[in-house]
Amino acid sequence: MSMIIGRQEFGRPEDAGNILTNEEAETLMNEWVLNPKLQLHMRQVGHLMKMWAKEKEGLTEADQHRWYIAGLLHDADWDQWPDEHCKKIIEELERRHIDPEVIHAIASHGPVHFGVEPVTKMDKMLYAFDELSGLIHAYSLMRPTGYDGMELKGVKKRLKEKYFAANVSREEISDAADRAGVPLEDIILFIIAHQKDAE
Ligand SMILES: [Fe+2]
Ligand SMILES: [Fe+2]
Repeated sequence: MSMIIGRQEFGRPEDAGNILTNEEAETLMNEWVLNPKLQLHMRQVGHLMKMWAKEKEGLTEADQHRWYIAGLLHDADWDQWPDEHCKKIIEELERRHIDPEVIHAIASHGPVHFGVEPVTKMDKMLYAFDELSGLIHAYSLMRPTGYDGMELKGVKKRLKEKYFAANVSREEISDAADRAGVPLEDIILFIIAHQKDAE
């Protein structure tokens, strides 16, 4: 099964700035994503994207919302249509005339799988957060205090254990940090600090 999307252009330039409201995104997510664990993952990545846009990039609230929606919806079709991931959500967002940069970020969240290169900082941070967020969440579940007291060195240790969260690609994690131009340690610390607040 190939998930290669086979194109690099998404949406229409004239739709720039057209983003789903929180309510529209919630409705779409609740219709498409029945698995609560996947919903949590999407919310966590959405929250990390929003907080990064705010704290590290100093972007406007409108841009923070764009980053949030890209993160929130990146896996929207994975639950019910894994063979069409992430073509189906891309087509849905194009049908709704959503901002092309948001669609591009979703399309490039796994360059090895989808054949779309991350270009913008939004693209690159979505790719950087995706797998690492999952690994750190798995780590929080095995710690009696969850995220409280979690340390960088603990996460780095889990990263080195190839049987811990074995489905999380270590190669993609380091490739993503390289492309984002952000030290891996900074991304890990940011996730430790913010992921628990995802709603
Ligand atoms: Fe995905
Ligand atoms: Fe994901």
